[in-house]
Amino acid sequence: MSNTLLAEVASRRTFAIISHPDAGKTTITEKVLLHGRAIQSAGTVKGRGSGQHAKSDWMEMEKERGISVTTSVMQFPYNNCLVNLLDTPGHEDFSEDTYRTLTAVDSCLMVIDAAKGVEDRTRKLMEVTRLRDTPIVTFMNKLDRDIRDPMELLDEVETELNILCAPITWPIGCGKLFKGVYHLHRDETILYQTGHGHTIQELRIVKGLDNPELDAAVGSDFAEQLREELELVRGASNEFDKDLFLSGELTPVYFGTALGNFGVDHMLDGLTEWAPAPMPRETSERKVEAGEEKFSGFVFKIQANMDPKHRDRIAFMRIVSGKYTQGMKMKHVRIGKTVNISDAVTFMAGDRERAEEAFAGDIIGLHNHGTIQIGDTFTQGEDLKFTGIPNFAPEMFRRIRLKDPLKQKQLLKGLVQLSEEGAVQVFRPLDTNDLIVGAVGVLQFEVVVARLKSEYNVEAIYEAVNVATARWVYCEDGRKLEEFKRKCSTNLALDGGDNLTYIAPTMVNLNLSMERYPDIQFAKTREH
Ligand code: G4P
Repeated sequence: MSNTLLAEVASRRTFAIISHPDAGKTTITEKVLLHGRAIQSAGTVKGRGSGQHAKSDWMEMEKERGISVTTSVMQFPYNNCLVNLLDTPGHEDFSEDTYRTLTAVDSCLMVIDAAKGVEDRTRKLMEVTRLRDTPIVTFMNKLDRDIRDPMELLDEVETELNILCAPITWPIGCGKLFKGVYHLHRDETILYQTGHGHTIQELRIVKGLDNPELDAAVGSDFAEQLREELELVRGASNEFDKDLFLSGELTPVYFGTALGNFGVDHMLDGLTEWAPAPMPRETSERKVEAGEEKFSGFVFKIQANMDPKHRDRIAFMRIVSGKYTQGMKMKHVRIGKTVNISDAVTFMAGDRERAEEAFAGDIIGLHNHGTIQIGDTFTQGEDLKFTGIPNFAPEMFRRIRLKDPLKQKQLLKGLVQLSEEGAVQVFRPLDTNDLIVGAVGVLQFEVVVARLKSEYNVEAIYEAVNVATARWVYCEDGRKLEEFKRKCSTNLALDGGDNLTYIAPTMVNLNLSMERYPDIQFAKTREH
C-alpha cells in the first residue's frame, strides 16, 4: 500500500443527507457548499421559484416543477478532508435511488425541522441506514423559528429512531429570541447574528460559561437559563462516544438554522473529525479494504439523459478500494469483460468534469450504453461481487396498459430494462397477463411513461391496482415453497429478474400470510 494512496483515502468523507421534505435539506446543502467554497454565495444550487435551475436538471418535467431527479455528487475540501456529499432525491422525486444512495455512503447527516420533530420520511430513511449501521450526525434546523423543547426533541429521536443522542451544541432561545449556541466540547458560546445567511459570517464567541460577557451578550435571563439547562443536559443526556457513533448507536446533535447559515460549520467540523473515512465492504468472496492498492467499485445508481446534450446513461460508481486513473482498464465482473475507461466523470457541485484521478470513497460516473446494471462490480481483475446494494420493496403500485395492444413485446422489454436500471420495478402476476409497476416514489411512474414513449416508442397508461405492498419470497424447503405457490398463486408474481414476489392487497393480508406460512421468508429487500 502506498502512503499517498492511504493519505488520500483517509481524507475522504462520503455522506448523504436524510430528512423529511421541507426540513431544509436543500438549504443546508447550499450552506455546506458555501463552507466548502464550492459555491460563492448561497442560492445557486436549486433556484426553486427564482427561475434558476441546477445544472443537473434534465427533463422538462423537472424544470416545470423545479425539482431535481438526479442524484448529483458534490465534492469539496473542508478541514483537511475531501468531502463527497451525495444528494438524495426528496419530495416527489423520492425513489429507490434515494434508498440506494444510502448504501454508497459512510455516514449520514440527519436534518430535522426542530419545530416538527421526527417525521415520516426520516423514519423510513433511518430504517435503511440501519441495514449497514451507518453513523448518523444530527442537525436540528430552523432555530430562527419557534421550536419544540430541545430536550423533548432529543427524547423523541431516541425513542422513535432508537438511537442515543449526544448534544454537542445547545441552543440559547429560539425564534426571534434565538441568541446562539453553547458548544459543550469547546466550552464557548457562539453568538447568532441575523442577516448573514448568504455568506460565511465572522464568528462572535464568548469563552466559558461563567464569563460575565455571556450575560452581557445574551442577557442575564438567557445566560442563567442556559447554565441551568446545561446542568440538566449534562446529567440527563449522553456524552459523545466515538465507538457508539461509529456503530450507529449514538448520534452527535447540533442546533442551528440553515437559512441563517448558523451552526452548519459546527456540524461540518464534527462530521469531518468523527465520521469514518471510506469503510471496508463485503463481497461474496471476502472483505475489501479501502486502502487496498487495487481498484474496485460498485454501481449504485444509473441515470438516463442527465444532460440533454449528452443523451447517454451514466452509471454512478462508488470506489471501494484503490485509485481510478483516466484510461485505466477495469474488469466488468458480471459479464467477464475488461473495459477501457477513458472518460469517467465527477460531479463537482453540478458540473460534469472529467475525472483524471479518484480514490476510494469517491464517486465517478461511467458512460453506459446498456451493459451496466445496478449492483455491478468493477475490479482490476479479481472476481468479486459486492453485496449490500439491494432492491427495496416498492410502496406504490399501478397496472400499466398499452394504448396500442400490439406493442406488448416492446413494453415488456422497456419495463425490464428500466427495472434493471432501477427506475421502477415490474411484476408479472402468475395468474394473469397484467403488468404491474411498483415504485417507492410517485414521480417514477411519470418518468417511466415518458421514457417508454421517447426511448421505446410505446405509449402506455396506468390504472389503479389492488396491491399495497410487495415482499420477495424465499424458502429453503422446495416442497413447502411449492405448496405455498399453489395456495397463494393469486398473490404471487415474478419481478423483472424472475424472482418470486408476494404482492399483498393489504398489510393485514401480508401479516396473515406471514403467520400462516412461518417457513416462508418474506423479504423487504432483495440483493442484485
Ligand atoms: P428540503 O430540501 O428539505 O425540502 O427543504 P428546503 O431546504 O427547500 O427548505 C424548505 C423550506 O424551509 C424553505 O422555505 C426554506 O427556505 C425553509 N428553511 C430551511 N432552513 C430554514 C431555517 O433554518 N429557518 C427557516 N425559518 N426556514 C428554513 P420555502 O418558503 O418553502 O421555500 P423558498 O421559497 O424559501 O425556497
